[in-house]
Amino acid sequence: MATAIASVKRLSESPNLSSIPSSYIHEFDPTDIAAADPDLSIPTVDLSLLASDDPDQKSNAVQELDRACQEWGFFMVINHGVPEPLIKAMIDAADEFFNLPEEEKPEFEPENVLTPIRYGTSFNTAKEDVFCWRDFVKIFVHPEFHCPEKPESLRDILPEYSVRIRDVVKKLLSGISVALGLKHGEMDKALGLESCLQIFVANLYPPCPNPDMALGLTPHSDHGLLTLLVQNDVGGLQIQHKGKWIDVNPHPNSILVNTCDQLEVFSNGRYKSVLHRAVVNNKKTRISIAVANGPSMEAEVSPAITMTTPGYAAMKYKNYLSAQQGNRLNGKSMLQELVRIRDC
Ligand code: OGA
Ligand code: NI
Repeated sequence: MATAIASVKRLSESPNLSSIPSSYIHEFDPTDIAAADPDLSIPTVDLSLLASDDPDQKSNAVQELDRACQEWGFFMVINHGVPEPLIKAMIDAADEFFNLPEEEKPEFEPENVLTPIRYGTSFNTAKEDVFCWRDFVKIFVHPEFHCPEKPESLRDILPEYSVRIRDVVKKLLSGISVALGLKHGEMDKALGLESCLQIFVANLYPPCPNPDMALGLTPHSDHGLLTLLVQNDVGGLQIQHKGKWIDVNPHPNSILVNTCDQLEVFSNGRYKSVLHRAVVNNKKTRISIAVANGPSMEAEVSPAITMTTPGYAAMKYKNYLSAQQGNRLNGKSMLQELVRIRDC
């Protein structure tokens, strides 16, 4: 049994906290960041073009999306159709959740990673020796909708937010299915998208007295197909591109998207899941909302592109998800260990 540890919110609010406990010290080089370079600007995908009735416009947009997924695994979506006030209200509701008295939040549950509403700290304290400077709540919102009792603001808007995000994901995946040369409906069927798993994750990164020694989240890739992320006005997300860490400074009102492990498998390695991490600062609280969008939990995911030799073994998504969430975060080790069968 791991010892129970407190939330970093509570830790950061403790009087006289002048330095972090040693259990939060990570070995990493905070100066290992690519210098600002116009060639390293993150691609933008205009969703209105992807859904255009004009075939040329649409086919150009599909090409751009394909390139963004292949070369970066990361992009900003604009003209996404999710109202700005809804995004703002979502971040405020997450803030309210973390500000609830501890007894009004669900219990910490590090062990049961498939619990539909799970509040916790770090990533998986049952498995970690060094902790991340992060509290979270993870809520399964599809195919079955769940929501904590409190705060009321969360109950009010979470249904709409998850539907709107699913709409964006649907459009992106339909573009990806064209880019992969799949027949209409083939992807939906193979991945069971009608009952796709959607997990809403709110992340809290309070101010940290030693931002050069702590990490909000250690380098990792995400388990699903596509993760869609928004944040308050505080940065901290970094992605790895061509071996270098890059600060992500999103356009206002854009949604950040990263390609995940199940998409890497399904595309037979055409779209590699992107490594990313969260750094922290000593001034302001950062809140991010990351919605993980995966296949159906029951889907047996394998490479869809049959013209080439498969680089990945088939595996039920539910089993992959349990393994990824039930271990410590360690780069792309789960993908490597569980499904990768050759370099591609
Ligand atoms: C995640 C994640 C990054 C961030 O929740 O998987 O990578 O910036 N979040 O909060
Ligand atoms: Ni992530």
